[in-house]
Amino acid sequence: MAINEEQVKTFISSANQAAKLIREHAEKGSFIHVVSHLDADGIAAAGIIGKALLRLDAKFRIRIQHWVDEKILGDITADKPDLTIFTDMGSGYLDLLCSVLKEPSMIILDHHQPVGENACSLCQVNPHYEGIDASRDISGSGVAYFVAKALDPSNVELASIAVVGALGDLQDKYEQKSLGGLNRIIVDDAVKAGYLIEEKDLIFFGRETRPIHKAIACTTSPFIPGISGEEDKTLAFLASLGIKPKHGDKWRALRDLEEEEKTTLCSALVDYLMAKGYSTSALSLVGNVYTLTREEPWTPLRDGREFSVLLNATGRLGKPSLGVALCMGDRAEALEHAKQTLDEYRRTITKYLSWVMEKPERMEELDAIYVIRGDGFINEKVVSTISSILSTSLPKPEKPLLIYARVLGEEFVKFSARTIDMMTNQGLDLGEILRVAAEKYAGRGGGHNIAAGAQVPIENIDGFIKSVNELVKQQIGSKNTIIL
Ligand code: C5P
Ligand code: C5P
Ligand code: ZN
Repeated sequence: MAINEEQVKTFISSANQAAKLIREHAEKGSFIHVVSHLDADGIAAAGIIGKALLRLDAKFRIRIQHWVDEKILGDITADKPDLTIFTDMGSGYLDLLCSVLKEPSMIILDHHQPVGENACSLCQVNPHYEGIDASRDISGSGVAYFVAKALDPSNVELASIAVVGALGDLQDKYEQKSLGGLNRIIVDDAVKAGYLIEEKDLIFFGRETRPIHKAIACTTSPFIPGISGEEDKTLAFLASLGIKPKHGDKWRALRDLEEEEKTTLCSALVDYLMAKGYSTSALSLVGNVYTLTREEPWTPLRDGREFSVLLNATGRLGKPSLGVALCMGDRAEALEHAKQTLDEYRRTITKYLSWVMEKPERMEELDAIYVIRGDGFINEKVVSTISSILSTSLPKPEKPLLIYARVLGEEFVKFSARTIDMMTNQGLDLGEILRVAAEKYAGRGGGHNIAAGAQVPIENIDGFIKSVNELVKQQIGSKNTIIL
């Protein structure tokens, strides 16, 4: 569904209102507490708002959180901020926020489905209120960007960071993996200002920077079973196609391939994926790539998708402030440190993916969903990434995937669920399902139609899983759709 001018206008006017409130606080020297979400989009959003606040010479602190609960709100209150800004989170917790944080002013810059009543008249910028599809048309960092741009036109330099955030949230759902909706305005801003180039190519990580076999092996979207994470097998695959990985003694990067070689590689991978039954993945090998022109070649910041994975890595491995610093413009040491974090993150993901693949029974198949019980093995902070990766290559792609992991020191587990466009187009809404099932089982859940999560007490794991399975069945059944 295309967005119309009226929607854009009302959205921008709500961003202007938030900007006005932020400026007023900055001018009177208020202490501002920014709370943002742990994933790439949330970290990008925090970086954008952080840079905008820095430009205003405001007093502020940024905290990155995985979710909102009473404990986290208690920490915020203890900080006694004059203004709290939530980015890429908050709208899903309106009742809680209004009941706990009533005193200080609050701003929410989010793209999650609003849940509950805004009973305390807090200032909220959320594209849902304009009827915009916020799982593909704009991300949390995009919302933050519109506010930053309203604060100061120089903040247009942050547009490419909002592009990175949107890619991190997998919003490249338009033709050939391009960004659309309000994200299109952001891409255009970044391109016009000379910070970004958008072009079509094979979508492999490190297309400019890595040896071909490494670029292919590093790519997990789409996940290519037997190739993703497996450099040796990728080398053998290239050899079988007659593609030389080296020129003399120098490794070749994807950009060094002749057009003909690219075509050979692409069709061989499509054949490979089709033969294994992964037709959806086969379609997503070519698409729009987003290059951040001001970043040094040979760094993971140069390619928008790779940058987003780097941000995710910092968040998931407990170093989100590194990611925020990069988004605010830090390089040198911060970048070196972030690269090491990225390597560690890749190793962690490969380890978990191999663990899942090792034994087929680790992926349980119920009537309507797949379930992976990560228990104490999968780290709770990485469970979302694992579910995103695996959901692109399920034997029956119409069945959503539900994964959980234990949360150290807590009495609840973290669930993460993913489905594919084909199912959301048929009316499946995982955000709604996880919210309803979690409420039934004394937990808290929500998210987007395509990607959702929940925290659920340990003793209710089985009940919750059953309930999600039933709700998926009901929701699909009630739409009178045919399951493939
Ligand atoms: O909290 P937030 O909205 O930023 O997170 C969205 C999450 O949904 C991200 O982790 C993103 O990777 C995931 N997602 C997904 N598949 C999609 C769209 C989003 O896994 N098609
Ligand atoms: O944690 P995960 O990436 O699986 O979450 C997918 C989406 O669901 C994210 O956008 C996240 O913010 C949202 N979510 C939520 N409420 C929860 C857990 C996750 O809105 N309790
Ligand atoms: Zn987001």
